[in-house]
Amino acid sequence: MKIQIITLFPEMFEGVLGNSMLWKAADRGIAEYSFINLRDYGQGPRKQFDDTPYGVVDSMLMMVEPLVAAIEHAKRNDPEATVILPTPRGQIYKQSDAKSLAVAEKGIILVCPRYEGYDERVTKWIDRQFCIGNYVLTGGELPAMIIIDSVVRLLPGVLGGETSAEIESFQDDDKSIEFPQYTRPEDFQGMKVPDVLLSGHHAEIAKWRKANSK
Ligand code: ADE
Repeated sequence: MKIQIITLFPEMFEGVLGNSMLWKAADRGIAEYSFINLRDYGQGPRKQFDDTPYGVVDSMLMMVEPLVAAIEHAKRNDPEATVILPTPRGQIYKQSDAKSLAVAEKGIILVCPRYEGYDERVTKWIDRQFCIGNYVLTGGELPAMIIIDSVVRLLPGVLGGETSAEIESFQDDDKSIEFPQYTRPEDFQGMKVPDVLLSGHHAEIAKWRKANSK
């Protein structure tokens, strides 16, 4: 899966994409990360990419031209890609969204806004707008990393040998995501691993996991 990231701060991604499973996914040729630096699309000799908003001038906004030029560049690289804008004004991002992006097997283009936001007209070039939680961050880079992590871990061959069909049956938003797990020692400072997990009884363990899932 081609993952293109439009950002003013590509170096923010190094640690996240360069380690553990996201790095392995790239190493195995399952995910391919590339960056489009918005500064390259700035206007005039000062490469300007933000300006004051019409109306109340209390902040800076990302201008529409550099954003659209960068998106169009990314689209030329991958015409079928889904263009995603992380924004507090988007739909709450869910496991089902990660799953549908992973199963579609299309590339994704993540547009990371900075400063106080972006000229609304850019949304004509955007397919999906996602909010990763009810709080406001300083830019779209952290939300973009969260989206990438949640999608790439679902791609076949990243975690195990899952096929797309198996991913389809992966937990949904309304189903359980996690149950408590334990490893050695069996007794840590008086806190014991539940007996059923030591029983080796698969059906009972499955029942226990279901009952204890959040
Ligand atoms: N940009 C700033 N805050 C955000 C949030 N909570 N979700 C997505 N994008 C954002």
